[in-house]
Amino acid sequence: MAKLYIRETQSKGHLNAEIQGHFAEHLGRCIYSGLFVGKDADIPNVNGMRTDVVNALKELQIPVLRWPGGCFADEYHWMDGIGPKEDRKKMINTHWGGVLEDNSFGTHEFFELCEQLGCKTYVNANVGSGTVREMSEWVEYMTFDGVSPMADLRKKNGREKPWRVDYLGVGNENWGCGGNMTPEYYANLYRQYQTYVRQYDPSNPISKICCGANVSDYCWTRDVLSTCYYNAPEHLHGFMDGLSLHYYTTPNNWSSKGSATDFDQNAYYKTLKKAMHMEELIERHSAIMDEFDPDTKIGMIVDEWGCWFDVEPDTNPGFLYQQNTMRDALVASITLDIFNQHADRVKMANLAQMVNVLQSVILTDGDQMLLTPTYHVFHMYKYHQDAELLDSYFEGVNVVGDPSEYKMPQLSHTVSIAADGYITATISNLSSTDEVPVELAFTDLCPRDVQATMLSQHMQAHNTFENPDAVKEVPFSDYELTNRSINFQMPPCSIVRIRVKA
Ligand code: AHR
Repeated sequence: MAKLYIRETQSKGHLNAEIQGHFAEHLGRCIYSGLFVGKDADIPNVNGMRTDVVNALKELQIPVLRWPGGCFADEYHWMDGIGPKEDRKKMINTHWGGVLEDNSFGTHEFFELCEQLGCKTYVNANVGSGTVREMSEWVEYMTFDGVSPMADLRKKNGREKPWRVDYLGVGNENWGCGGNMTPEYYANLYRQYQTYVRQYDPSNPISKICCGANVSDYCWTRDVLSTCYYNAPEHLHGFMDGLSLHYYTTPNNWSSKGSATDFDQNAYYKTLKKAMHMEELIERHSAIMDEFDPDTKIGMIVDEWGCWFDVEPDTNPGFLYQQNTMRDALVASITLDIFNQHADRVKMANLAQMVNVLQSVILTDGDQMLLTPTYHVFHMYKYHQDAELLDSYFEGVNVVGDPSEYKMPQLSHTVSIAADGYITATISNLSSTDEVPVELAFTDLCPRDVQATMLSQHMQAHNTFENPDAVKEVPFSDYELTNRSINFQMPPCSIVRIRVKA
Protein backbone atom coordinates (compact mmCIF):
# COMPACT_ATOMS: atom_id res chain seq x y z
CA MET A 1 0.00 0.00 0.00
CA ALA A 2 1.38 3.42 -0.97
CA LYS A 3 0.30 6.10 1.48
CA LEU A 4 0.10 9.76 0.48
CA TYR A 5 0.24 12.02 3.54
CA ILE A 6 -1.51 15.35 2.91
CA ARG A 7 -1.10 18.33 5.22
CA GLU A 8 -4.20 20.18 4.14
CA THR A 9 -3.34 23.40 6.00
CA GLN A 10 0.33 23.59 4.89
CA SER A 11 0.65 25.64 1.72
CA LYS A 12 3.99 25.40 -0.07
CA GLY A 13 3.35 28.21 -2.55
CA HIS A 14 1.23 29.38 -5.42
CA LEU A 15 0.77 27.40 -8.65
CA ASN A 16 0.62 29.98 -11.43
CA ALA A 17 -2.12 29.09 -13.91
CA GLU A 18 0.41 29.80 -16.68
CA ILE A 19 2.26 26.58 -15.76
CA GLN A 20 -0.42 24.95 -17.91
CA GLY A 21 0.21 27.26 -20.88
CA HIS A 22 0.30 26.35 -24.57
CA PHE A 23 2.25 27.18 -27.71
CA ALA A 24 1.04 27.58 -31.32
CA GLU A 25 3.58 28.13 -34.09
CA HIS A 26 3.24 28.64 -37.83
CA LEU A 27 4.31 25.05 -38.27
CA GLY A 28 2.60 22.27 -40.22
CA ARG A 29 -1.12 22.13 -39.44
CA CYS A 30 -1.06 23.83 -36.05
CA ILE A 31 -2.36 27.27 -37.01
CA TYR A 32 -3.63 26.61 -40.53
CA SER A 33 -6.40 23.98 -40.54
CA GLY A 34 -5.85 23.08 -36.86
CA LEU A 35 -6.90 26.35 -35.24
CA PHE A 36 -7.67 28.66 -38.14
CA VAL A 37 -9.65 27.81 -41.28
CA GLY A 38 -10.70 31.29 -42.43
CA LYS A 39 -14.14 32.83 -42.38
CA ASP A 40 -15.23 31.29 -45.69
CA ALA A 41 -14.43 27.68 -44.77
CA ASP A 42 -17.09 24.96 -44.70
CA ILE A 43 -15.80 23.91 -41.29
CA PRO A 44 -17.88 25.76 -38.67
CA ASN A 45 -15.90 28.74 -37.39
CA VAL A 46 -16.19 32.07 -35.65
CA ASN A 47 -14.15 34.73 -37.41
CA GLY A 48 -12.05 31.97 -38.97
CA MET A 49 -11.32 30.04 -35.73
CA ARG A 50 -12.58 26.43 -35.67
CA THR A 51 -15.56 26.24 -33.34
CA ASP A 52 -14.97 22.59 -32.39
CA VAL A 53 -11.31 23.16 -31.48
CA VAL A 54 -11.93 26.43 -29.62
CA ASN A 55 -14.76 24.87 -27.60
CA ALA A 56 -12.59 21.90 -26.62
CA LEU A 57 -9.70 24.20 -25.66
CA LYS A 58 -12.00 26.38 -23.56
CA GLU A 59 -12.74 23.29 -21.45
CA LEU A 60 -9.06 23.28 -20.47
CA GLN A 61 -9.16 26.91 -19.26
CA ILE A 62 -6.13 27.72 -21.42
CA PRO A 63 -4.26 30.26 -19.28
CA VAL A 64 -1.84 31.65 -21.91
CA LEU A 65 -0.91 31.10 -25.55
CA ARG A 66 2.54 31.70 -27.05
CA TRP A 67 2.78 32.70 -30.74
CA PRO A 68 4.09 32.89 -33.58
CA GLY A 69 7.09 30.63 -32.81
CA GLY A 70 9.41 28.91 -32.18
CA CYS A 71 11.97 29.13 -34.93
CA PHE A 72 9.33 30.81 -37.09
CA ALA A 73 9.33 33.83 -34.76
CA ASP A 74 12.82 34.89 -35.78
CA GLU A 75 11.91 35.07 -39.44
CA TYR A 76 8.44 36.53 -38.93
CA HIS A 77 7.86 40.11 -40.01
CA TRP A 78 4.64 41.20 -38.37
CA MET A 79 3.79 43.89 -40.93
CA ASP A 80 3.35 41.12 -43.52
CA GLY A 81 0.43 39.79 -41.45
CA ILE A 82 -1.82 42.87 -41.14
CA GLY A 83 -4.22 44.66 -43.47
CA PRO A 84 -6.43 43.23 -46.24
CA LYS A 85 -5.69 39.52 -46.67
CA GLU A 86 -5.32 39.74 -50.43
CA ASP A 87 -2.53 42.31 -50.01
CA ARG A 88 -0.54 40.39 -47.42
CA LYS A 89 2.95 39.45 -48.46
CA LYS A 90 3.59 35.74 -48.84
CA MET A 91 6.77 34.06 -47.64
CA ILE A 92 8.42 30.66 -47.59
CA ASN A 93 8.34 28.95 -44.21
CA THR A 94 11.96 27.83 -44.50
CA HIS A 95 12.08 26.09 -41.12
CA TRP A 96 8.98 24.02 -41.48
CA GLY A 97 8.51 22.15 -44.72
CA GLY A 98 9.34 25.02 -47.08
CA VAL A 99 5.65 25.69 -47.62
CA LEU A 100 4.09 28.97 -48.66
CA GLU A 101 2.95 31.10 -45.72
CA ASP A 102 0.22 33.47 -46.87
CA ASN A 103 0.14 35.44 -43.62
CA SER A 104 -3.65 35.17 -43.43
CA PHE A 105 -3.22 34.51 -39.71
CA GLY A 106 -1.49 37.56 -38.23
CA THR A 107 -1.63 39.86 -35.25
CA HIS A 108 -5.38 40.57 -35.40
CA GLU A 109 -6.17 36.88 -35.79
CA PHE A 110 -3.94 35.92 -32.87
CA PHE A 111 -5.70 38.31 -30.52
CA GLU A 112 -9.09 37.16 -31.84
CA LEU A 113 -8.13 33.57 -30.98
CA CYS A 114 -6.96 34.56 -27.50
CA GLU A 115 -10.16 36.52 -26.94
CA GLN A 116 -12.22 33.47 -27.91
CA LEU A 117 -10.13 31.27 -25.60
CA GLY A 118 -10.19 33.87 -22.81
CA CYS A 119 -6.46 33.47 -22.29
CA LYS A 120 -3.42 35.66 -21.72
CA THR A 121 -1.17 36.56 -24.64
CA TYR A 122 2.50 35.74 -25.14
CA VAL A 123 3.94 37.26 -28.31
CA ASN A 124 7.43 36.17 -29.36
CA ALA A 125 9.30 38.93 -31.23
CA ASN A 126 11.95 38.58 -33.92
CA VAL A 127 15.56 39.26 -32.93
CA GLY A 128 17.34 36.86 -35.31
CA SER A 129 16.31 38.57 -38.55
CA GLY A 130 14.35 41.57 -37.31
CA THR A 131 15.28 45.04 -36.09
CA VAL A 132 14.78 46.95 -32.87
CA ARG A 133 12.52 49.36 -34.75
CA GLU A 134 10.37 46.52 -36.13
CA MET A 135 9.88 45.07 -32.67
CA SER A 136 9.21 48.41 -30.98
CA GLU A 137 6.68 49.37 -33.66
CA TRP A 138 4.91 46.03 -33.14
CA VAL A 139 4.62 46.82 -29.43
CA GLU A 140 3.24 50.28 -30.32
CA TYR A 141 0.79 48.74 -32.81
CA MET A 142 -0.51 46.25 -30.27
CA THR A 143 -0.60 48.31 -27.10
CA PHE A 144 -0.66 52.09 -27.67
CA ASP A 145 -3.97 53.76 -26.88
CA GLY A 146 -3.75 57.19 -28.50
CA VAL A 147 -2.74 58.90 -31.69
CA SER A 148 0.48 57.52 -33.17
CA PRO A 149 1.55 56.11 -36.53
CA MET A 150 1.22 52.49 -35.41
CA ALA A 151 -1.96 52.98 -33.36
CA ASP A 152 -3.51 54.74 -36.34
CA LEU A 153 -2.52 51.86 -38.61
CA ARG A 154 -4.13 49.39 -36.19
CA LYS A 155 -7.34 51.45 -36.21
CA LYS A 156 -7.28 51.61 -40.00
CA ASN A 157 -7.09 47.81 -39.94
CA GLY A 158 -10.24 47.62 -37.87
CA ARG A 159 -9.11 47.54 -34.24
CA GLU A 160 -9.83 50.71 -32.32
CA LYS A 161 -8.65 49.73 -28.85
CA PRO A 162 -5.21 48.34 -28.09
CA TRP A 163 -4.83 44.74 -27.02
CA ARG A 164 -3.13 43.51 -23.93
CA VAL A 165 0.25 41.84 -24.37
CA ASP A 166 0.94 39.94 -21.17
CA TYR A 167 4.32 38.49 -22.15
CA LEU A 168 6.78 39.44 -24.87
CA GLY A 169 9.61 37.08 -25.82
CA VAL A 170 12.71 38.87 -27.09
CA GLY A 171 13.84 36.26 -29.62
CA ASN A 172 13.56 32.47 -29.56
CA GLU A 173 16.36 29.91 -29.35
CA ASN A 174 18.89 32.57 -30.29
CA TRP A 175 21.61 30.02 -29.51
CA GLY A 176 20.29 28.05 -32.53
CA CYS A 177 17.59 28.74 -35.13
CA GLY A 178 17.19 32.31 -33.83
CA GLY A 179 20.60 33.49 -35.09
CA ASN A 180 23.24 31.03 -33.79
CA MET A 181 24.44 33.62 -31.29
CA THR A 182 26.87 33.31 -28.41
CA PRO A 183 25.36 34.02 -24.98
CA GLU A 184 27.21 37.29 -24.57
CA TYR A 185 26.25 38.55 -28.01
CA TYR A 186 22.60 37.64 -27.50
CA ALA A 187 22.54 39.14 -23.99
CA ASN A 188 23.80 42.47 -25.34
CA LEU A 189 21.13 42.40 -28.04
CA TYR A 190 18.56 41.50 -25.37
CA ARG A 191 19.55 44.55 -23.31
CA GLN A 192 19.19 46.75 -26.38
CA TYR A 193 15.90 45.30 -27.70
CA GLN A 194 14.14 45.19 -24.35
CA THR A 195 14.86 48.91 -23.87
CA TYR A 196 12.36 49.63 -26.64
CA VAL A 197 9.59 47.40 -25.29
CA ARG A 198 7.75 50.49 -24.11
CA GLN A 199 5.17 50.19 -21.36
CA TYR A 200 2.41 52.27 -22.94
CA ASP A 201 -0.07 51.10 -20.31
CA PRO A 202 1.76 51.01 -16.97
CA SER A 203 -1.29 49.49 -15.30
CA ASN A 204 -0.85 46.43 -17.59
CA PRO A 205 2.91 46.07 -17.90
CA ILE A 206 4.33 43.69 -20.48
CA SER A 207 6.48 40.98 -18.88
CA LYS A 208 9.73 40.65 -20.82
CA ILE A 209 11.08 37.16 -21.47
CA CYS A 210 14.78 36.73 -22.22
CA CYS A 211 15.86 33.72 -24.30
CA GLY A 212 17.27 31.08 -21.97
CA ALA A 213 19.09 27.82 -22.42
CA ASN A 214 18.71 24.73 -24.49
CA VAL A 215 18.45 21.73 -22.14
CA SER A 216 21.60 21.61 -19.96
CA ASP A 217 23.52 24.55 -21.42
CA TYR A 218 24.29 26.02 -18.02
CA CYS A 219 26.97 28.26 -19.58
CA TRP A 220 24.23 30.03 -21.53
CA THR A 221 22.26 30.74 -18.34
CA ARG A 222 25.28 32.02 -16.46
CA ASP A 223 26.70 34.12 -19.30
CA VAL A 224 23.38 35.68 -20.28
CA LEU A 225 22.61 36.59 -16.67
CA SER A 226 26.14 37.98 -16.10
CA THR A 227 25.84 40.26 -19.11
CA CYS A 228 22.28 41.30 -18.37
CA TYR A 229 23.07 42.06 -14.73
CA TYR A 230 26.19 44.06 -15.60
CA ASN A 231 25.61 47.55 -14.16
CA ALA A 232 21.84 47.03 -14.29
CA PRO A 233 19.82 48.98 -11.70
CA GLU A 234 18.97 46.53 -8.94
CA HIS A 235 15.21 46.98 -9.18
CA LEU A 236 15.29 45.98 -12.88
CA HIS A 237 16.70 42.51 -12.07
CA GLY A 238 18.74 42.09 -15.24
CA PHE A 239 16.08 43.87 -17.35
CA MET A 240 13.93 40.74 -17.45
CA ASP A 241 10.82 39.21 -15.90
CA GLY A 242 11.43 35.73 -17.21
CA LEU A 243 14.20 33.54 -18.58
CA SER A 244 13.19 30.67 -20.82
CA LEU A 245 14.24 27.02 -20.93
CA HIS A 246 13.56 24.50 -23.70
CA TYR A 247 13.58 20.75 -23.19
CA TYR A 248 11.96 18.04 -25.32
CA THR A 249 11.61 14.39 -24.32
CA THR A 250 12.75 11.97 -26.99
CA PRO A 251 13.55 8.32 -26.28
CA ASN A 252 16.44 7.84 -28.73
CA ASN A 253 18.43 10.49 -30.55
CA TRP A 254 17.59 13.36 -32.88
CA SER A 255 18.14 11.40 -36.09
CA SER A 256 15.93 8.49 -34.99
CA LYS A 257 13.51 9.57 -32.31
CA GLY A 258 11.34 6.47 -32.29
CA SER A 259 7.70 5.87 -33.14
CA ALA A 260 4.99 7.69 -31.21
CA THR A 261 2.81 4.57 -31.04
CA ASP A 262 4.93 1.50 -31.73
CA PHE A 263 7.31 1.07 -28.80
CA ASP A 264 8.25 -1.56 -26.25
CA GLN A 265 8.45 -1.44 -22.48
CA ASN A 266 12.10 -0.34 -22.54
CA ALA A 267 11.27 2.65 -24.71
CA TYR A 268 8.31 3.39 -22.44
CA TYR A 269 10.39 3.60 -19.26
CA LYS A 270 13.27 5.30 -21.05
CA THR A 271 10.87 8.03 -22.21
CA LEU A 272 9.40 8.55 -18.73
CA LYS A 273 12.90 8.62 -17.25
CA LYS A 274 13.94 11.24 -19.79
CA ALA A 275 10.87 13.32 -18.95
CA MET A 276 12.03 13.24 -15.31
CA HIS A 277 15.29 14.89 -16.40
CA MET A 278 13.26 18.11 -16.36
CA GLU A 279 13.68 18.17 -12.58
CA GLU A 280 17.48 18.23 -12.72
CA LEU A 281 17.37 20.91 -15.41
CA ILE A 282 15.09 23.13 -13.35
CA GLU A 283 17.16 22.65 -10.20
CA ARG A 284 20.51 23.35 -11.85
CA HIS A 285 19.35 26.34 -13.90
CA SER A 286 17.55 27.65 -10.79
CA ALA A 287 20.73 27.38 -8.74
CA ILE A 288 22.45 29.72 -11.22
CA MET A 289 19.45 32.05 -11.27
CA ASP A 290 19.50 32.11 -7.44
CA GLU A 291 23.04 33.56 -7.51
CA PHE A 292 21.83 36.59 -9.44
CA ASP A 293 18.23 36.73 -8.29
CA PRO A 294 17.93 35.28 -4.78
CA ASP A 295 14.46 36.81 -4.32
CA THR A 296 13.09 34.92 -7.37
CA LYS A 297 11.91 38.03 -9.18
CA ILE A 298 12.71 36.37 -12.51
CA GLY A 299 10.44 33.50 -13.49
CA MET A 300 11.72 30.39 -15.18
CA ILE A 301 9.61 30.10 -18.33
CA VAL A 302 9.72 26.59 -19.80
CA ASP A 303 8.11 27.80 -22.99
CA GLU A 304 8.73 24.65 -25.01
CA TRP A 305 8.40 21.15 -23.62
CA GLY A 306 6.84 17.82 -24.56
CA CYS A 307 7.50 14.56 -26.39
CA TRP A 308 9.18 14.66 -29.79
CA PHE A 309 8.91 11.42 -31.80
CA ASP A 310 9.27 10.51 -35.48
CA VAL A 311 6.49 11.97 -37.63
CA GLU A 312 3.60 9.71 -38.56
CA PRO A 313 4.30 7.64 -41.70
CA ASP A 314 3.50 9.39 -44.99
CA THR A 315 3.31 12.86 -43.46
CA ASN A 316 5.53 15.84 -44.29
CA PRO A 317 8.68 15.51 -42.11
CA GLY A 318 8.69 19.30 -41.70
CA PHE A 319 5.21 19.29 -40.17
CA LEU A 320 6.11 17.36 -36.97
CA TYR A 321 2.76 15.58 -36.87
CA GLN A 322 2.78 12.75 -34.31
CA GLN A 323 0.26 10.56 -32.50
CA ASN A 324 -0.19 10.68 -28.75
CA THR A 325 -0.54 7.68 -26.41
CA MET A 326 -0.88 6.94 -22.69
CA ARG A 327 2.92 7.30 -22.61
CA ASP A 328 2.49 10.97 -23.61
CA ALA A 329 -0.21 11.34 -20.95
CA LEU A 330 2.21 10.16 -18.27
CA VAL A 331 5.02 12.38 -19.58
CA ALA A 332 2.55 15.26 -19.24
CA SER A 333 1.52 14.39 -15.67
CA ILE A 334 5.12 13.77 -14.54
CA THR A 335 6.26 17.06 -16.06
CA LEU A 336 3.39 19.10 -14.63
CA ASP A 337 4.13 17.53 -11.21
CA ILE A 338 7.76 18.64 -11.52
CA PHE A 339 6.73 22.17 -12.46
CA ASN A 340 4.30 22.27 -9.54
CA GLN A 341 6.98 21.15 -7.07
CA HIS A 342 9.24 23.97 -8.35
CA ALA A 343 6.57 26.63 -8.66
CA ASP A 344 8.65 29.05 -6.58
CA ARG A 345 10.76 29.49 -9.75
CA VAL A 346 8.69 28.04 -12.61
CA LYS A 347 6.11 30.71 -13.43
CA MET A 348 5.03 29.60 -16.90
CA ALA A 349 5.39 26.59 -19.16
CA ASN A 350 4.05 26.04 -22.68
CA LEU A 351 3.37 22.60 -24.09
CA ALA A 352 4.61 22.17 -27.67
CA GLN A 353 2.31 22.41 -29.47
CA MET A 354 -1.42 23.01 -29.17
CA VAL A 355 -2.84 21.23 -32.26
CA ASN A 356 -1.38 18.75 -34.80
CA VAL A 357 2.29 19.37 -33.90
CA LEU A 358 4.45 17.32 -31.46
CA GLN A 359 2.67 16.55 -28.15
CA SER A 360 -0.67 18.10 -29.04
CA VAL A 361 -3.83 18.16 -26.99
CA ILE A 362 -5.94 18.02 -30.18
CA LEU A 363 -5.51 16.38 -33.59
CA THR A 364 -7.60 17.28 -36.63
CA ASP A 365 -8.24 15.73 -40.01
CA GLY A 366 -10.37 17.89 -42.29
CA ASP A 367 -13.52 18.63 -40.32
CA GLN A 368 -12.80 15.87 -37.78
CA MET A 369 -11.21 16.47 -34.39
CA LEU A 370 -10.03 14.22 -31.58
CA LEU A 371 -8.80 14.81 -28.05
CA THR A 372 -5.49 13.15 -27.22
CA PRO A 373 -4.59 11.43 -23.92
CA THR A 374 -2.52 14.55 -23.13
CA TYR A 375 -5.71 16.64 -23.47
CA HIS A 376 -7.31 14.59 -20.72
CA VAL A 377 -4.34 15.14 -18.41
CA PHE A 378 -4.63 18.90 -18.80
CA HIS A 379 -8.36 18.58 -18.19
CA MET A 380 -7.68 16.69 -14.94
CA TYR A 381 -4.97 19.13 -13.86
CA LYS A 382 -6.89 22.34 -14.54
CA TYR A 383 -8.01 22.46 -10.90
CA HIS A 384 -4.38 23.11 -9.92
CA GLN A 385 -4.40 26.39 -11.86
CA ASP A 386 -3.90 29.30 -9.46
CA ALA A 387 -4.29 26.94 -6.50
CA GLU A 388 -1.93 26.64 -3.52
CA LEU A 389 0.41 23.67 -3.55
CA LEU A 390 -0.10 21.54 -0.43
CA ASP A 391 2.61 19.81 1.53
CA SER A 392 2.29 16.10 0.71
CA TYR A 393 4.58 13.07 0.52
CA PHE A 394 4.32 9.40 -0.34
CA GLU A 395 5.50 6.45 1.75
CA GLY A 396 5.74 2.85 0.61
CA VAL A 397 6.15 3.54 -3.10
CA ASN A 398 7.63 0.70 -5.18
CA VAL A 399 10.36 1.16 -7.73
CA VAL A 400 9.45 0.26 -11.32
CA GLY A 401 11.27 0.36 -14.66
CA ASP A 402 13.63 -1.85 -16.52
CA PRO A 403 16.60 -2.09 -17.13
CA SER A 404 18.14 -0.59 -14.00
CA GLU A 405 19.06 2.77 -15.57
CA TYR A 406 15.37 3.42 -16.16
CA LYS A 407 14.25 2.74 -12.60
CA MET A 408 11.85 5.24 -11.05
CA PRO A 409 9.24 5.57 -8.29
CA GLN A 410 5.95 4.03 -9.33
CA LEU A 411 3.89 7.07 -8.38
CA SER A 412 3.98 10.79 -9.19
CA HIS A 413 1.58 13.33 -7.76
CA THR A 414 0.44 16.90 -7.03
CA VAL A 415 -1.92 18.01 -4.26
CA SER A 416 -3.28 21.57 -4.13
CA ILE A 417 -6.08 23.57 -2.56
CA ALA A 418 -8.06 26.10 -4.61
CA ALA A 419 -9.78 29.31 -3.56
CA ASP A 420 -13.16 27.50 -3.62
CA GLY A 421 -11.91 25.29 -0.77
CA TYR A 422 -11.52 22.11 -2.83
CA ILE A 423 -8.41 19.99 -2.47
CA THR A 424 -7.31 18.35 -5.74
CA ALA A 425 -4.99 15.34 -5.76
CA THR A 426 -3.70 14.00 -9.09
CA ILE A 427 -1.79 10.71 -8.87
CA SER A 428 -0.09 8.83 -11.72
CA ASN A 429 0.78 5.13 -11.69
CA LEU A 430 3.80 4.89 -13.99
CA SER A 431 4.02 1.10 -14.01
CA SER A 432 3.00 -0.36 -17.34
CA THR A 433 2.11 -3.70 -15.71
CA ASP A 434 1.40 -3.36 -11.97
CA GLU A 435 -1.63 -2.04 -10.20
CA VAL A 436 -1.14 -0.41 -6.81
CA PRO A 437 -3.31 0.24 -3.75
CA VAL A 438 -3.19 3.90 -2.72
CA GLU A 439 -4.31 5.64 0.47
CA LEU A 440 -4.75 9.41 0.62
CA ALA A 441 -4.24 10.22 4.30
CA PHE A 442 -5.37 13.63 5.51
CA THR A 443 -4.13 15.24 8.72
CA ASP A 444 -7.52 16.41 10.01
CA LEU A 445 -9.91 16.30 7.13
CA CYS A 446 -12.79 13.88 7.15
CA PRO A 447 -13.32 13.43 3.39
CA ARG A 448 -16.81 14.07 2.04
CA ASP A 449 -18.22 15.51 -1.15
CA VAL A 450 -15.62 13.54 -3.18
CA GLN A 451 -15.47 13.82 -6.99
CA ALA A 452 -13.06 11.63 -8.94
CA THR A 453 -12.09 10.75 -12.49
CA MET A 454 -9.58 8.34 -14.03
CA LEU A 455 -7.57 8.01 -17.23
CA SER A 456 -6.37 4.46 -17.75
CA GLN A 457 -5.32 2.32 -20.70
CA HIS A 458 -2.33 0.28 -21.87
CA MET A 459 0.85 2.23 -22.65
CA GLN A 460 0.39 2.35 -26.44
CA ALA A 461 -3.32 3.19 -26.37
CA HIS A 462 -4.29 6.26 -28.38
CA ASN A 463 -7.26 7.87 -30.04
CA THR A 464 -7.85 7.70 -33.80
CA PHE A 465 -10.43 9.34 -36.01
CA GLU A 466 -12.08 5.92 -36.29
CA ASN A 467 -12.01 5.38 -32.53
CA PRO A 468 -11.70 8.81 -30.90
CA ASP A 469 -12.66 7.69 -27.37
CA ALA A 470 -10.28 4.75 -26.88
CA VAL A 471 -8.55 6.79 -24.17
CA LYS A 472 -10.67 9.19 -22.18
CA GLU A 473 -11.22 10.53 -18.71
CA VAL A 474 -14.08 8.69 -17.03
CA PRO A 475 -15.86 9.13 -13.69
CA PHE A 476 -14.25 7.06 -10.94
CA SER A 477 -16.18 5.89 -7.89
CA ASP A 478 -14.34 2.77 -6.86
CA TYR A 479 -12.90 4.23 -3.65
CA GLU A 480 -13.55 3.77 0.05
CA LEU A 481 -13.83 6.60 2.53
CA THR A 482 -12.74 6.33 6.15
CA ASN A 483 -12.57 9.00 8.81
CA ARG A 484 -9.36 10.57 7.53
CA SER A 485 -8.60 8.80 4.27
CA ILE A 486 -9.59 7.79 0.75
CA ASN A 487 -8.51 4.33 -0.43
CA PHE A 488 -8.49 2.98 -3.96
CA GLN A 489 -6.72 0.69 -6.37
CA MET A 490 -4.84 2.22 -9.34
CA PRO A 491 -4.54 0.14 -12.51
CA PRO A 492 -1.23 0.15 -14.39
CA CYS A 493 -0.59 3.16 -16.61
CA SER A 494 -3.25 5.35 -15.05
CA ILE A 495 -3.94 8.80 -13.63
CA VAL A 496 -6.55 9.50 -10.97
CA ARG A 497 -7.91 12.92 -10.09
CA ILE A 498 -9.68 13.31 -6.76
CA ARG A 499 -11.38 16.48 -5.54
CA VAL A 500 -12.58 16.79 -1.99
CA LYS A 501 -14.07 19.70 -0.07
CA ALA A 502 -11.77 20.90 2.70
O1 AHR B 1 8.44 23.29 -31.39
C1 AHR B 1 9.20 23.04 -32.53
C2 AHR B 1 10.51 23.81 -32.54
O2 AHR B 1 11.34 23.33 -31.51
C3 AHR B 1 10.45 25.28 -32.29
O3 AHR B 1 10.15 26.00 -33.43
C4 AHR B 1 11.82 25.60 -31.82
O4 AHR B 1 11.85 26.73 -30.96
C5 AHR B 1 12.28 24.32 -31.15
O5 AHR B 1 13.53 23.93 -31.57
